[in-house]
Amino acid sequence: MKKVVVFTGSGISAESGLKTFRDSDGLWENYKVEDVATPQAWQRNRKLVLDFYNLRRKQVLEAVPNEAHLALVALEKKFAVQVITQNVDDLHERAGSKKVLHLHGEIRKARSSVDPSLIYDIKGWELNEGEKCACGSQLRPHIVWFGEMVPELETAAHLISAADIFIVIGTSLQVYPAAGLIDYTKHDSEKYLVDPNAPTYVPGEFTIVRKKAGTGVPQLVNKLMKNTP
Ligand code: APR
Repeated sequence: MKKVVVFTGSGISAESGLKTFRDSDGLWENYKVEDVATPQAWQRNRKLVLDFYNLRRKQVLEAVPNEAHLALVALEKKFAVQVITQNVDDLHERAGSKKVLHLHGEIRKARSSVDPSLIYDIKGWELNEGEKCACGSQLRPHIVWFGEMVPELETAAHLISAADIFIVIGTSLQVYPAAGLIDYTKHDSEKYLVDPNAPTYVPGEFTIVRKKAGTGVPQLVNKLMKNTP
């Protein structure tokens, strides 16, 4: 089986009703990154940070996977598929994708603010002040904030370097180090980028599908399935 690695960003969940970050009316138009998504923000104003992620979590729970998430599951019939996502929602998992690596954390989980190995599922949508880990420290959202290390980066680079087919969906590729992962592709791999606002040039000979994920991904998946016995 050929290996397919799919690298997704917030654009794949846009048609499920979740906002992207940098589009007009994206999340970072209404919030300042430094107020809600940095370790300094957590030190300064925990309640604001918790409230921001509580609202995001509520919206994720109300959202459902769309045609793009579902098409990637169908791809598993003929390919060994690994999803690597920058998204903190669980729509790939709920669609049925078997292998999903989250680079920037998972919004439905909390972790200890002193011991990163203590990770807990959040019941419902709220994580509040006073909720503590087994060793008594406040729980924080299980999210990789700006300025923090991306623990899964090396694993992701390794997976991408082994891919026969690499598909990028719905990311502006503006946030590093994640965006730099596209440099790890094999030079002879097939590469696709599905994004309605894809730039005219992406280094590395990508075939650009300038469509929304809900339309472009099922079309691409159909094409790949047809060309594979
Ligand atoms: N289908 C596909 N792509 C879409 C759609 C859609 N329906 N709607 C918007 N897009 C594209 C936009 O054109 C843009 O290129 O999704 C991309 C969204 O880019 P960003 O808002 O920058 O989001 P993303 O790339 O996921 O951000 C990366 O930034 O703030 C952080 O940690 C956060 O993981 C996130 C990271």
